[in-house]
Amino acid sequence: MQIKSQINNILEESFKALNITPKSLQVSDATKPEFGDYQYNGAMALAKELKQNPREIAIKLANELEKSELFEKVEVAGPGFINLTLSSSFLSKNLLKSLDERAGVSLKENPIKVVVDYSSPNMAKQMHVGHLRSTIIGDTLANLFEFLGDEVIRQNHIGDWGTQFGMLIAYFEENQKDIDAKLSDLEEFYKAAKKRFDESEEFAKKAREYVVKLQSGDEGCLRLWSAFIDKSLQHCQEVYDKLGVKLDKNCVKSESSYNDDLGNIVTELESKGVAKESQGAKCIFFEGSDNPLIVQKQDGGFLYATTDLAAIRYRVQELGAKRVCYVVDARQSEHFRQVFEAARLAGFADERVLLEHIAFGMMLDKSGKPFKTRDGGTVKLIDLIDEAVNRAKEVISRANEYSQEELEKIAQVVGIGSLKYADLSINRQSNYIFDWDKMLSLDGNTALYMQYAYARINSILNKAGEFETREPKLTDTLERRLALKVLALEDTLLKAYQEAMPHIITNYLYELATLFMKFYENNPILKEGVDEETKISRLNLAKATANAIKVSLNILGIEVLERI
Ligand code: ARG
Repeated sequence: MQIKSQINNILEESFKALNITPKSLQVSDATKPEFGDYQYNGAMALAKELKQNPREIAIKLANELEKSELFEKVEVAGPGFINLTLSSSFLSKNLLKSLDERAGVSLKENPIKVVVDYSSPNMAKQMHVGHLRSTIIGDTLANLFEFLGDEVIRQNHIGDWGTQFGMLIAYFEENQKDIDAKLSDLEEFYKAAKKRFDESEEFAKKAREYVVKLQSGDEGCLRLWSAFIDKSLQHCQEVYDKLGVKLDKNCVKSESSYNDDLGNIVTELESKGVAKESQGAKCIFFEGSDNPLIVQKQDGGFLYATTDLAAIRYRVQELGAKRVCYVVDARQSEHFRQVFEAARLAGFADERVLLEHIAFGMMLDKSGKPFKTRDGGTVKLIDLIDEAVNRAKEVISRANEYSQEELEKIAQVVGIGSLKYADLSINRQSNYIFDWDKMLSLDGNTALYMQYAYARINSILNKAGEFETREPKLTDTLERRLALKVLALEDTLLKAYQEAMPHIITNYLYELATLFMKFYENNPILKEGVDEETKISRLNLAKATANAIKVSLNILGIEVLERI
């Protein structure tokens, strides 16, 4: 149920009746509860445009709006603000819909095909914290798009091609006998190979020869390379599984898979006059910029950008994507700006296709420095995940007593949930300060707070046993505000969808859970003395709240617990 678009429709009707065509039809949330539920502030701008008195326009409009059954109260305030209070019966009626599995959220009327490019680590190294944000944010966006009805294609654009593989193959050759043992720790393997490369000129030469051999399709090299990629991917999968992220081998669409297409891409760019030769290299120049995009080097080699152009063409023309989201570090924004512009120039993606760089900031430690291990190394993702679960175990066992089995299960859900929630709950464009204590706090905008709220409602519902599904009656402000928030779920998800901003969902969750706690403190449900009518009404309201929490958390890739 989209409340805002329903109000907007009524606004539109009212303006029609007044013979006015306004520029803006958007209502916003009321800034304070005493101003009602929603506000329309467009009368002032409109008055200026029509050279009329804003209050007069607002009053005329208010008189029209009042005719709708949607509103209990329509009020003109100040110079021409219109404060709208929804009718309680409208809220009650719609809450009934929130009692279903989707918490009342409908599917989009015009679903589209979306590609979400996320995680996309380079295969030469073990996954580290830099990949965590892309993996978590990307998975959430994919879940959100899917929930709203889009057809989502999750793509892991792994970096499996490049000069570093020559070095790895050379090291493979030297250590063939215990290759499996060596590969069991990729990080060590990479470091050892790098050390040899830096130390020995002879080894470095061999490594460079292997790059050429690999790129010209030498079978032996390809075999080693592919064994290495397999192993690397196994490791990534372990991370994805632990995180409960929906990436698997079917999502892998590697850089190397575009290799055969790169020559064609450059030829096409040249024949369309998009790429030109400059000092032996093939480049794309952009108007008003002296920073060209190189698509082929002097020595004939292709680049990261060439592959990305091939990927855009594939995603748009073969897969039929209408929106392509690149969940990648903000430091690559210049790269994507250029690649998108080049794709437009080349006609790989026309204006109807949305190409978006979903940029995110860095992960920093509490002192604001890039997140590192104590001795300055990169933090391995797998270790970070395990630590999250262990810390969750500690926090929850302080709060309650559990059997060992229960503790393991809860710690898993809380630990992973907290790790994800903390990342998702800040505007992705900001840098993210990683802080264990804040992340696992019982109070505040954390996964644990939401999971507690859900478990609490669940225990109330369980204690109540079976009860009739019925429209909740909203008898006081707390009930009313809670109901409004529950009903705002669809508007919230749509906003998060448009802006590709997960923190819009976490902000919503925090407000929702906080309103529930307040409601519950003041409006007992199962206490003696509460009459049957009131009890059933409140149980239904609580159930609708639990549904909204569960749906939101699941979109964030976070599980709920029936009991904590
Ligand atoms: N492998 C790249 C890196 O680790 C990220 C790839 C992002 N996706 C893309 N289509 N360029 O920096």
